[in-house]
Amino acid sequence: MIKLINLSKKYQMKDKNINALDQVSISIDSGEFVAIRGPSGCGKSSLLLSIGGMSRPTEGELIIDNTSIYKLSKNERCHYRGTNIGFIFQAFHLIPYLSVKDNILSANIHSGKYRTDQVDALMDKFNLGLRSNHKPSELSTGEKQRVALARAFLNEPSIILADEPTGNLDPQNAIIVLNHLKEFQKNGGTVVLVTHQNNAEEYSDRTINMETGKIIS
Ligand SMILES: Nc1ncnc2c1ncn2[C@@H]1O[C@H](COP(=O)(O)OP(=O)(O)OP(=O)(O)O)[C@@H](O)[C@H]1O
Ligand SMILES: [Mg+2]
Repeated sequence: MIKLINLSKKYQMKDKNINALDQVSISIDSGEFVAIRGPSGCGKSSLLLSIGGMSRPTEGELIIDNTSIYKLSKNERCHYRGTNIGFIFQAFHLIPYLSVKDNILSANIHSGKYRTDQVDALMDKFNLGLRSNHKPSELSTGEKQRVALARAFLNEPSIILADEPTGNLDPQNAIIVLNHLKEFQKNGGTVVLVTHQNNAEEYSDRTINMETGKIIS
């Protein structure tokens, strides 16, 4: 279970503070598929980064399966994240000078596993086999997103956090991505998906609506 308790995130700028998250409390069960919606700038990416252990909250606590994530040391937190969480970033964040294959394998950095055995199967699964030696700049947008997906799946995480993974895709590629996330859930995984897709409810069990750093429903 993922539990956020009164979690706030302030970004301190020179001339102002931005309350990206304001006392957010939510619980997400293991095996649940949750969609997060809300207008641009309301804090969706900030929320996902906090859940993913990548953005220390200013206040409050994040507990995943009885572990208080931000009480871990940095190394422990990186290892936890590498082993348990797959993250799909809003802007792909592929490493430009690595091939498709090495980008997928880069998920190993913090997990300590070296899953070369898995990577060929993943490239087949995500229809990237013929692109394994391409650099990100040599890929289409849909292919880049599938590399990001394969990387998130590499360490067989129990949680996938996906930040608008279909935002840059045509409807056909969007369905492919959503179906992969649904299949992950059917195999017992937890999915938190930030999305503007109108049909996301067909995939998710529950929608969390946000506005200016708060959960409104
Ligand atoms: N690193 C940062 N430093 C300062 N302010 C930030 C930072 N990251 C985000 N913000 C601000 O925090 C607020 C929430 O940003 P966030 O990226 O979480 O929004 P979002 O809901 O994901 O938006 P979008 O739908 O456009 O991706 C915004 O007002 C944004 O300008
Ligand atoms: Mg965002």
